[in-house]
Amino acid sequence: MPTNHSTQASSTIDPKPLAGRRAVVTGGTIGMGRAIVQALTDRGAEVVYTGRSDRRLAEAQAALDTPLAHPVRSDATDANAIADLSDQVADRLGRIDYLFINQGIAEFQTLEEVTEESWDRIFDVNAKGAFFTVQRLIPLISEGGSIVFTTVSNDRIFPGLSAYSGAKEAVAAFTKVLAAELLPRKIRVNAIAPGFILTPTMGVAELTDEQRAEFIEQGNASTPMGRGGTVEEVAAAALYLAAEATFTTGVELPVDGGFGQGLSA
Ligand SMILES: NC(=O)c1ccc[n+]([C@@H]2O[C@H](COP(=O)([O-])OP(=O)(O)OC[C@H]3O[C@@H](n4cnc5c(N)ncnc54)[C@H](OP(=O)(O)O)[C@@H]3O)[C@@H](O)[C@H]2O)c1
Repeated sequence: MPTNHSTQASSTIDPKPLAGRRAVVTGGTIGMGRAIVQALTDRGAEVVYTGRSDRRLAEAQAALDTPLAHPVRSDATDANAIADLSDQVADRLGRIDYLFINQGIAEFQTLEEVTEESWDRIFDVNAKGAFFTVQRLIPLISEGGSIVFTTVSNDRIFPGLSAYSGAKEAVAAFTKVLAAELLPRKIRVNAIAPGFILTPTMGVAELTDEQRAEFIEQGNASTPMGRGGTVEEVAAAALYLAAEATFTTGVELPVDGGFGQGLSA
């Protein structure tokens, strides 16, 4: 009779490996952020997550349906809101183990179309908001904890995304510089770099249903694996970097079906 390895293995798998861990996810109401919150709470972690509107937070809370998730309205472009988030995280969770800086928006604009206003909007959310959220929350991160940024698979070029790509390159730089700065505090800093991921917005502001369908088609055609990634696949990579990759810091992990790797079948 064959030995039942699967029964042996499953009896030793901890269903809540992150029980007792605490995390913050910025931009956790929909898309990849919500999938990260879901993956964390499914594994037993307690999570504060953010978004800009009470309506979106309430919808997320209903979908997550767990007492381990705590919504906080906080706009990453507003310094006072970031300070308030830090206070709320301290009150609710005390110290934290993982910080996921996920919020982001992209806008397709040609060189001529970019305005000072749209430039500031993109940089404020993606780069400035990311940096100052880390600066505010870092005193709460425990030794041995980690930060995971969300950048973008930027090795292949998209015309019309100069401001967004520039802002995400700034975040890629924060990943390396902060990884070095936080070595003495034993806090690891990494990033996931998604390619085409099937989220409600596909990461692009004001996308119509038609544009979204077109974008998905483009993504399928230009991704070596022939499809867009799922938010669960992104969340799995983010949790790996946060919790399991304990000898990895300063890296940007592509989660892009080979998009940025120059592969062809
Ligand atoms: N989808 C893709 O194909 C793709 C590819 C590469 C990289 N990315 C990056 O991956 C991340 C997630 O993308 P996604 O497609 O999952 O985005 P999404 O579905 O549009 O979700 C974005 C999240 O960010 C929040 N957010 C936006 N602006 C914010 C602000 N100023 N303050 C706080 N929260 C804010 C949104 O919350 P509310 O709207 O509720 O405020 C939402 O929870 C982004 O950083 C994006 O740039 C996406």
